[in-house]
Amino acid sequence: MRSYASQSRVIAIDGPAASGKSSVARKLARQLGFIYVNSGAIYRAITWHLLQNRIGSDEEERISEALDSVALACVVRDSEARIVVDDVDAAEHLRDDRVNECVSRVSKLPRVREIVSEKLHDCAEGHDVVIEGRDIGSVVFPDTPYKFYIDASPEVRLQRRAAQGERDEITIRDHDDVSRAVSPLVKAKDAHLIDTSQVTVEQVVTQIMLRLEQAGLPIGDVQMINRAIGE
Ligand code: DC
Repeated sequence: MRSYASQSRVIAIDGPAASGKSSVARKLARQLGFIYVNSGAIYRAITWHLLQNRIGSDEEERISEALDSVALACVVRDSEARIVVDDVDAAEHLRDDRVNECVSRVSKLPRVREIVSEKLHDCAEGHDVVIEGRDIGSVVFPDTPYKFYIDASPEVRLQRRAAQGERDEITIRDHDDVSRAVSPLVKAKDAHLIDTSQVTVEQVVTQIMLRLEQAGLPIGDVQMINRAIGE
């Protein structure tokens, strides 16, 4: 097991599918001048790679072998971490129907979680980051004082996915994500809960900024520095 010691600031934004966490995390990162990292994208990139190689989500041994031989990198571009698989930017494949269908099953596997956790720590090495996911505050960065859990009613979340025109069985993914043995989706005890069902992204970001300030993050300084360097 690797041990990690990072001086970077990590803001953890966890929550279920279509809760609004991507929009919130991306906007927050931009406002603070932090790097935006979508941990789900790494699980999706791995799932896409396995599908490409016709490896089933139940073939643990073949998955392990595939993970040993693939070059998986998080590359920061335009203040966002992009996932590069064997030199291919996986972005355009991450929301394929087949990836939506298989990603929760792939993300159950301890070896997969271990690799994603390592990649996330690599991303936070030398960068202040806003990371969205399921277990960022509870497992991957348990020591960060900046933890948020973003939720919305199941009806609102289903409507959001439908409006995005995606076929994504979020009820099934929710069940898989909450009930898996390793790092299930759970609100960390010290995470601040925000229900986004009835509020805008801007309102959620404002609420988080206030909370961060109360938690000791020097928001004013960060914004001043970003203005000074022209972000
Ligand atoms: O955030 P998303 O819907 O793109 O995530 C896709 C899947 O990845 C999700 O169903 C479960 C998994 N995931 C995870 O297990 N842990 C994370 N920190 C992020 C995502």
